[in-house]
Amino acid sequence: MTTVYLNGRYVPKAEAMIPVEDRGFMFGDGIYEVVRLIHGRIFAWAGHAARMANGLTTLRIDRAGAESATLKAVCEKLVADNGLAGGEATVYLQVSRGAAPRTHHFPPTGTPTTVYASATLFTPNFALRDNGAKGITFADIRWARCDLKTVNLLGPVMARQAALEAGAYEALFHRDGMFTEGAATNAFFVLNGVLRTYPLSNYILPGITRVEIVQLIHELGLPFDERPVALAELAIIEEVFVCGTTTDVQPLVEIDGKPVGNGRPGALTVQLKEALAKRLYGT
Ligand SMILES: Cc1ncc(COP(=O)(O)O)c(C=O)c1O
Repeated sequence: MTTVYLNGRYVPKAEAMIPVEDRGFMFGDGIYEVVRLIHGRIFAWAGHAARMANGLTTLRIDRAGAESATLKAVCEKLVADNGLAGGEATVYLQVSRGAAPRTHHFPPTGTPTTVYASATLFTPNFALRDNGAKGITFADIRWARCDLKTVNLLGPVMARQAALEAGAYEALFHRDGMFTEGAATNAFFVLNGVLRTYPLSNYILPGITRVEIVQLIHELGLPFDERPVALAELAIIEEVFVCGTTTDVQPLVEIDGKPVGNGRPGALTVQLKEALAKRLYGT
């Protein structure tokens, strides 16, 4: 039996109920987070907590009940109670603006938020990371606050479905002729031997894994230019990888049916994949 967390209580998943007027359901009016736990320990909690706090503050959602210390304890307890502390797990956290009769503007002050969390067994796909995966390009149809991790995910939903139908793993968004990020990942490219990625702005999510990768690039002294790559440069891209909490460093070896570089994961990608694994597993 799976135990989940809902509004201060640990309950069997089948008994976790939210009202149909929840604004997360009606408007996508909420934020979420996905954290990774290895042997019961959360990886990079501070970054996840800060991103959540920033999302709640920016969207003016009450932070009561979603304080960093509370949520950290919830993650650790869910993983322990569901028997997942011995290996790898993810915890999904969601905070919505709560339930109230449907109005576009905010509900009355004091309307309690809905705070939900659940833990799941996580098995990284090491073979895919070693061999590389396929990608597609997809117009970035998302709104202009992609820096907030909101539960409005129709852009990524449409993009990932297109990827699936094309037999690909990830869709790379492009906006104004520039690659922004993956549907649920940040994207790094190598051109002329230099690593490039879209700079932090309202058009990409500030990924927690992206922070780790940028730190590793500096630590390893790799050539890096935080500058967007144009869709028109696709044919001269030497390496591509996407990264995220559940993606680690995932090479893309084919985009829109054409090989990237020599069609194998590139040297810089492999170096960063191994360096990130060391940070995750300490080996
Ligand atoms: C659009 C988008 N970009 C990037 C990421 C990667 O972020 P993180 O490394 O924090 O998991 C995600 C994760 O879900 C995402 O949805």
